[in-house]
Amino acid sequence: MRPAVWPFWRAALTGAAFTLAAPLHGQDLEGHGGPVGALAVTPDHVLSGSFDTRAILWDRAQARAVEITRFHDGNVTAVAFLQGGAFVTAGQDGRIALWEAGAARPYLATDHAPSAIAALDVAPDARTLAAGFRDGQILTLSLPEGVERWHQAHSDRITGLGYLASGDLVSVGGDQRLMRWSPEFSPRAQATLPALPNGLAVSQGRLAVIFADGALRMYSETGDLLPEHFLTDRPLVALATSAMDIVAAAIDGTVWRLDATALTQEMSFPASDGPIWALALDDSEILTAGHSGVIRRWAREDGAALGRADPQQAASFDDGSRGAEIWRSCAVCHSLEPDDHNRAGPSLHGIFGMRIASQPGFDYSGALRDMDIIWTEKTVAELFEYGPDEYTPGSRMPDQRISDPADRAALVEFLARTSE
Ligand code: HEC
Repeated sequence: MRPAVWPFWRAALTGAAFTLAAPLHGQDLEGHGGPVGALAVTPDHVLSGSFDTRAILWDRAQARAVEITRFHDGNVTAVAFLQGGAFVTAGQDGRIALWEAGAARPYLATDHAPSAIAALDVAPDARTLAAGFRDGQILTLSLPEGVERWHQAHSDRITGLGYLASGDLVSVGGDQRLMRWSPEFSPRAQATLPALPNGLAVSQGRLAVIFADGALRMYSETGDLLPEHFLTDRPLVALATSAMDIVAAAIDGTVWRLDATALTQEMSFPASDGPIWALALDDSEILTAGHSGVIRRWAREDGAALGRADPQQAASFDDGSRGAEIWRSCAVCHSLEPDDHNRAGPSLHGIFGMRIASQPGFDYSGALRDMDIIWTEKTVAELFEYGPDEYTPGSRMPDQRISDPADRAALVEFLARTSE
């Protein structure tokens, strides 16, 4: 049986209209072919960015994709809505692309940059947007003409930024600094942070910052530390705010909602058994996304699941073996069907005996195309013994290792059985 995402992509790619059989309010959004790391919402739409290099604009009520953009060379790492239905996407390729709803190409795009974009926000007057890069720089782009200004803002990667109502920009980075910048980009306030910040969002004139030590700390606009909330001892990795709430998620998939005024913890719920990489919310729903590639929807009030619970990708291969269990973490990005390259990675159909980067029709990285490896049970096992970063440097596959030799053997045994 084919995974349920397959016919979806088929329809989307051939341009045919695709509607889920029974549209339900609050239904989960399925269609990305890899982990989802960026989310934004308006009352009518959801915008998502994925490791599969696509950004998808979804009709919220119908729970279906209305537009699938393919532009970035690598992971889509940040997304936001602009005025009048337009939106912006940013990626691992360091590019920012501005889209009118319904257009096949961006109406404006910046050049490739040497470093990836990690955070993005649009100023309250919608005339400027700011992108924070892994090398510590911030790029401000004035709209609509697209004038670019680069600023060396932090000495390590930017992990969060957001505009205040005044038009000042606030940023946090791996250098454990919080900085507030005037519109002319002179520093107006700064603070040293007690731990590594993983994200920032503005909430009622205060700054919510999530940390690797499991704390959500509030700061004043001038950088003074306000209440700290130790939500967990696991790293907090995603954050979103609305007029009423602050929501944060930990690496173990737990989500917390706090009242934005009283800063009291209102509820928490387990949204996933893996990390949540992106959150969005409004007065009715909380949306979560992460490794599985499915965007899940929850009632804001009590965290009740609004969609159906089980991500589908791996289910069809589940024959109860250890190898099938390990394959689950691969299936979000790889299919075993011939020519099915609609996920973040190539199909692994017929992988044994093939030269690296030779599945027809998949857009491999230059790094992989230049390598000289034949995939065998031995080399695939080695790929996960040493990890893609070491074994195939420059690969777009995220680094992951399978440390137990028995697990590597189970994976290649499963692949030998199912990839033909
Ligand atoms: C988050 C997405 C993602 C996950 C998870 C993932 N991969 Fe990959 N994989 C990729 C991408 C993207 C490429 C192509 C990389 C490039 O072009 O640089 C790739 C390439 C490969 C290749 C080389 C294919 C070829 O045609 O040369 C193999 C083999 C592979 N992956 C196996 C696996 C296995 C086995 C797992 C699970 C243990 C896994 N991958 C998990 C994204 C992923």
